[in-house]
Amino acid sequence: MITRLVRSHRFRTLLLLLTVLTVATSCGWSLWDSPMTTVRPRSDFGRWIDEIFMLISWWTLAIFIAVEGALLYCVWRFRERPGAPPPKQVHGHNLLEISWTVAFAVVLLIIGIPTIRIIFRTQEAPAATDLRVDVAGHQWWWEFKYPDFKITTANEVHLPGGRTVAFYLHAPDVIHSFWIPGLGGKRDVVPHRVNRIIMTPDVHTTTTEYIGQCAEYCGMSHANMRFRAIVHPKEEFEDWVKAQQAPPVDSKDALAQQGKEIFTKSACVGCHTINGVSLGQIGPDLTHFASRHTFAGSLMKTTPENLAKWVENPGHMKPGALMPNLGLTGEQSKAVAAYLLSLK
Ligand code: CUA
Repeated sequence: MITRLVRSHRFRTLLLLLTVLTVATSCGWSLWDSPMTTVRPRSDFGRWIDEIFMLISWWTLAIFIAVEGALLYCVWRFRERPGAPPPKQVHGHNLLEISWTVAFAVVLLIIGIPTIRIIFRTQEAPAATDLRVDVAGHQWWWEFKYPDFKITTANEVHLPGGRTVAFYLHAPDVIHSFWIPGLGGKRDVVPHRVNRIIMTPDVHTTTTEYIGQCAEYCGMSHANMRFRAIVHPKEEFEDWVKAQQAPPVDSKDALAQQGKEIFTKSACVGCHTINGVSLGQIGPDLTHFASRHTFAGSLMKTTPENLAKWVENPGHMKPGALMPNLGLTGEQSKAVAAYLLSLK
């Protein structure tokens, strides 16, 4: 009985339909719920893109239903029946041909006009009141400079909700792409050129973190080139700015002091800036390193263990990492990590 059921054509068709439905709905849910969803935008820019996405989606769904409906109707209506004569052969039907040409031209206009309007809107010049953030896409980490506040940070961009921000994008090495799915994007980050992306994150009542990601293949650790966009309520953002402008606090902890000595006497100083300590420009500015929740292209959480492992052998944690292995021992790496973690 069961074997007959399993073998039956209808049962298999039903099973196939159920599987397709399950996969489709679970994909649909993850599209809406994932931390990198683009369909619940939290900025004006994101909503403009979403409007176009939904417009195109609904129109293509309508066209799909119309075309598939007509197809299924024809398959059923003109199916082969015993003794039926061959169907009437038709060549050319002016009305039909003109109407489907016109119908699709109209659909193209319905989609095309708003799309072009949004493209122009997203390319408008920044206003003088916008918060300027200079973004550098490096292999494989992000640098953010706030010229108005004289702040430099890495892999974490802090923004005030409700204020328009103008990101000025440039790349010192190869082409990257700047993308914060929850807020909108993406835009190429190209050497020898400055691209802009301007958006106003919604007003946030609590601090909200959005994941950012390089969206253009840029080498070995492209997938590890992430960052966080952290949107604050206005006052909280001002507190963050003040904390970042303050000089770094030196810990009197013995291990941290030992780490500072290793840092200042090794090649670290050639690449990293710590205000009042070193002036390197190649790697991330570490002045307030411990205030960041993640490091190394936002790949790892800022914990003593992760950091010590990273200092000991960067390439092991982020393939292709340009930070060299300095040959520090496990103990020395722990000391350097303790020093960096004291830089609040
Ligand atoms: Cu930078 Cu991909």
